[in-house]
Amino acid sequence: MTAGPWREAPLIAGNWKMHKTPAEARELVRSLLGQLAAELASEVLLLPPFTALEAVVGELAGDPRVRVGAQNCHYEAAGAFTGEIGAPMLAPLCDYVLVGHSERRHLMGESDEVVRRKLEAVLAAGLLPILAVGETEAERSAGVTEAVVERQTQAGFAGLSVEELGRCTVAYEPVWAIGTGATATPDDAAAAAAVVHRVVAELNSGGVAVRVLYGGSVTPSNAASLLSAPGVRGALVGGASLRADEFAAIVAAAG
Ligand code: PGA
Repeated sequence: MTAGPWREAPLIAGNWKMHKTPAEARELVRSLLGQLAAELASEVLLLPPFTALEAVVGELAGDPRVRVGAQNCHYEAAGAFTGEIGAPMLAPLCDYVLVGHSERRHLMGESDEVVRRKLEAVLAAGLLPILAVGETEAERSAGVTEAVVERQTQAGFAGLSVEELGRCTVAYEPVWAIGTGATATPDDAAAAAAVVHRVVAELNSGGVAVRVLYGGSVTPSNAASLLSAPGVRGALVGGASLRADEFAAIVAAAG
């Protein structure tokens, strides 16, 4: 699938992580569709586990308000990789694939190089990558937040064509804010977004900009202020996306 005009809108993505059976996923989608406004200013994206993708797509029944993505993929298209999923296998079900989430980088040991290869695989399958970047608590304390965001953005995007870069989104997610209830301030989010925008501009001589999302303990009460941070154009929501009322309220906060 290819990019379209919806990419100008803010993106509010729900990362369900390792939650929801297909039946539970259907129920959550039904409830969410009932709570979203009929016309949305934002693009809404659900990232269910692989096993619930088909159920989510089926329950959405082509509703244009909500798109579907995957949380991860393998960097090879196909092969002897037991337990893995290749991007071409996701293409019939998804528009987007998240790569480089901090739980993959830090719990599963994915390097910048592996993340980069996954991003290339997503592009090669005609899908839209969301590259997650962000510093750990220790990196923040050491004052290297901007250096980490710069390195991860460069490693993810260096050498891409303008067309490829134009299909990418970045999610800035400080690792210390994920699932902890601690959030970056809008100023922190804006500073990280500025680094991403600068790196992307340097990589393609300003030819194309990417959307930058903020993620990490986004809730209905903090969404509006985080979404108004300069350079931030959406949110990647974990815990709060598992509740239809909370996720719908975050979408509403995006305007
Ligand atoms: P959280 O997760 O909203 O539960 O902090 C965000 C994420 O990991 O994408």
